[in-house]
Amino acid sequence: MSNESVVFQSVINKKPPQVIKAKGVYMTVVKDGKTIELLDGVTGAAVGALGAGDEEVYEIINEAAKNSFYTYPSLIGNQHSEDLAQFYIDHSPKGAFASALWCCSGSESNENALKIIRQYWLEKGNTKKIKFISRETSYHGFTLGALSISSNGRAEFLKDSLIDQEKCPKMPVCYPYRYQKEGQSEEEYTQSLLDALEKLIIDNDPETVASVTIETLPGSSLGTVPPPKGYLPGIRKLCDKYDILMHLDEVMCGTGRTNPNGGLNCWENFLEPGQFPDIQTVGKTLGSGYVTIAGVLVGPKIKKAYEAGSGAIVGSHTYASHGFNCAVALGIQKKIMREGLTKNIFEKGNRMGAILKEKLLESGEENIVGDVRGIGGFWSVELVKNKKTKEIFDKKLDVGHKMQDYCFNNGLNVMGMQGCKDNIKGEGDFFLLAPAFVVTDEDVDEIIKRVLAALKDCTEWLKSEGAF
Ligand SMILES: Cc1ncc(COP(=O)(O)O)c(C=O)c1O
Repeated sequence: MSNESVVFQSVINKKPPQVIKAKGVYMTVVKDGKTIELLDGVTGAAVGALGAGDEEVYEIINEAAKNSFYTYPSLIGNQHSEDLAQFYIDHSPKGAFASALWCCSGSESNENALKIIRQYWLEKGNTKKIKFISRETSYHGFTLGALSISSNGRAEFLKDSLIDQEKCPKMPVCYPYRYQKEGQSEEEYTQSLLDALEKLIIDNDPETVASVTIETLPGSSLGTVPPPKGYLPGIRKLCDKYDILMHLDEVMCGTGRTNPNGGLNCWENFLEPGQFPDIQTVGKTLGSGYVTIAGVLVGPKIKKAYEAGSGAIVGSHTYASHGFNCAVALGIQKKIMREGLTKNIFEKGNRMGAILKEKLLESGEENIVGDVRGIGGFWSVELVKNKKTKEIFDKKLDVGHKMQDYCFNNGLNVMGMQGCKDNIKGEGDFFLLAPAFVVTDEDVDEIIKRVLAALKDCTEWLKSEGAF
């Protein structure tokens, strides 16, 4: 098999390792002619819920293929998309959502969310609300609208092509490990972030602010930082105070990966009872990698405004509400619920995080781990040169990606990243863990064993470079 690639992605002309087989939480890949067995610690980009090669999913796919027929959704619809929307509404706290739009990727879902938000205000006769507040060090996708509300190296690279950044103000990142000051309590840190957001809203004229977008639990931007106590409830209250829509991006952290009640939404960990986002984007585990599906969940307030207004949503995608994708996603979600897999990943993932914390932070061992953070099935490990001062490694060493390589060499697939400390300059190293919902205690123990072995290898390499 040649190593030359004609797929225009990642490294041009060179194939990344190619998957040839996968079952459950293991996969077989070919790299430079060698066949390698990998334990999948991150399921692509936190996508896989059921693991690979699930026999029941093949039956679901077979049935869906026979019982779904492509139509252009604005002209002729299908019941599968209705059923999937109803399922999400029914498996979320009562009153949270009233409707859903299905599309094909997380970027597309955020792109649509921005347009739904803009049209919401127009439906209410308000033409002034045009600004989308979001957060520093954030990622909402690679389409131009989604990138405009993101803050990272990719957005910086394409900055001249984005929505005018005056219309996309950014509030400070929420990142206690680095920015909660010595002696500052959690409540005080939260309040400082809320004060900064309120100032940003006021400085931008609240009458022109349409929405505030936050990743409930950030993922690829700075690695799974659980929001401090009171942070999301405080943002909800500020949105209410200034008549602004609250948009949660749960593309990576939602749909069962981090829910404490065996349900779907990550915000159920953090918002107060009766508090909901107005609009929410989801993706990834919705189709568990078997189909390309994502969505926008719309709360009753937004739905009512459209009903009282034009009654129609402007714009449509050829593959919106795709019957086959919706039928497969629904079958997968029903199986996940029936088998209690959202509960399983919450428990097993929290156990994985607790053991990593204990071994890498609390043991007092000298190592390159500054922080272990996350919740449920979504964790990250931040790598630093100095645990006490939190000094980062030289960006050129590319430690995040090196750690990914060392994990690979130890038979573990993880996602290594740079940019948690400074997402624009790409400084600060971490890697993500997001195993499939079907993981067992043995799988978790094996992930930990391989992480520890990779950390040892990475540390030896850093020592040989004189960097640790
Ligand atoms: C929070 C968040 N939003 C949106 C996206 C974009 O999703 P996609 O890559 O499916 O377009 C991602 C991708 O990682 C994400 O993490």
